[in-house]
Amino acid sequence: MKLLQTTLLAAALCSTSTLSMAEEAALKIGLMLPATGTYAQLGTAIENGFKLYVNQVGGKLGGRDVEYVKLDDESDPAKATDNINKLIKSDKVDVVIGTVHSGVAAAMAKVAKQTGTLLVVPNAGSAMITGPMCAPNIFRSSFSNQQPGFAMGKVAAEKGYKKVATITWKYGAGEESVGGFKEAFEADGGEVVKELYVPFPNVEFQALLTEIAALKPDAVYSFFAGAGAVKFVKDYKAAGLMDNIPLLGAGFLTDGTLKAQGGDGEGLLTTLHYADELDNETDKAFRQAYNAAFDMVPDVYAVQGFDAAQILDIGLKATGGDVSKTAEIAAAVESTEIDSPRGKFTLSKAHNPIQDIYLREAKGEENVMIGVAVEKLDDPAKGCRL
Ligand code: BEZ
Repeated sequence: MKLLQTTLLAAALCSTSTLSMAEEAALKIGLMLPATGTYAQLGTAIENGFKLYVNQVGGKLGGRDVEYVKLDDESDPAKATDNINKLIKSDKVDVVIGTVHSGVAAAMAKVAKQTGTLLVVPNAGSAMITGPMCAPNIFRSSFSNQQPGFAMGKVAAEKGYKKVATITWKYGAGEESVGGFKEAFEADGGEVVKELYVPFPNVEFQALLTEIAALKPDAVYSFFAGAGAVKFVKDYKAAGLMDNIPLLGAGFLTDGTLKAQGGDGEGLLTTLHYADELDNETDKAFRQAYNAAFDMVPDVYAVQGFDAAQILDIGLKATGGDVSKTAEIAAAVESTEIDSPRGKFTLSKAHNPIQDIYLREAKGEENVMIGVAVEKLDDPAKGCRL
């Protein structure tokens, strides 16, 4: 009898301590972002934004302390599957945050869908993520590549341009961005007369700029980001095209890049879900806090990192920090209006932001909002079955 009592007591003590260990265990977050290459600065801004939110809410998400495991994905799709598997299987992270590059993120989404791992995508706009790979455990805090392109297609048609050439990197993000532009522009009577591509992350634009000069389109639509966007805008100006053939872009062309472009981007019109100095209190507080923490002005990538942490917090608060309760996490996130520096937005069933896309003009080092190109734009989420 005594032996039985002792055994029961030991079992009770053991289960209590297991429970409190689970309660107290830190939430292990894998930050799979680029730390090198053309998108390195974007990765830093996302990490900064994410950590700013976590620090502002006392260092916990869903009531759990947070611990980070960092991995440089090098924006290399060939290494993506091994990299995310390492985070999940060897580092045993609870959640993965990543990444910037669409090709890398599509591979991550595939693994997240297969394993049920919670994934929040803080940039990459790949149509796969909220299309065929959509899942209750996968969220995007940023945009789909189609969204800014589609909005600029509308703007270009409204401006009366008839024949537009496009130029971008030859990979998913560039192709989908051009696809969004073309869809809206041609529906409104315009024609994309030439689609020009350079391999990613190549920045040898000269031959294509010569081709644009010969083509003489009414305007050029472009998708470039990070260091590549700096080089492209400088080369476009140096080729003497800036004053003759208006350059339009998805907002990544001038977001976080104007300073390095040294004035060559002045006056450029772009479309994006963020602009500098938006007239809302959340943005004002965010910009002030970001500046104080990092001695830098935030950009769209910092906003997306901040909102990735916010989305995770909303989901995990509903489950007391339990990452395995995906349906409850999804229900909480889907029913919440997210109070973002970009303005309030909701997530679609496929977990992509439904958001206003602003028309911005580059003035000095800022992308100033001059209008809303498309209100509450959703992503088509083609192929998403939930
Ligand atoms: C992308 O690969 O999806 C991407 C990269 C940089 C900026 C925007 C989109």
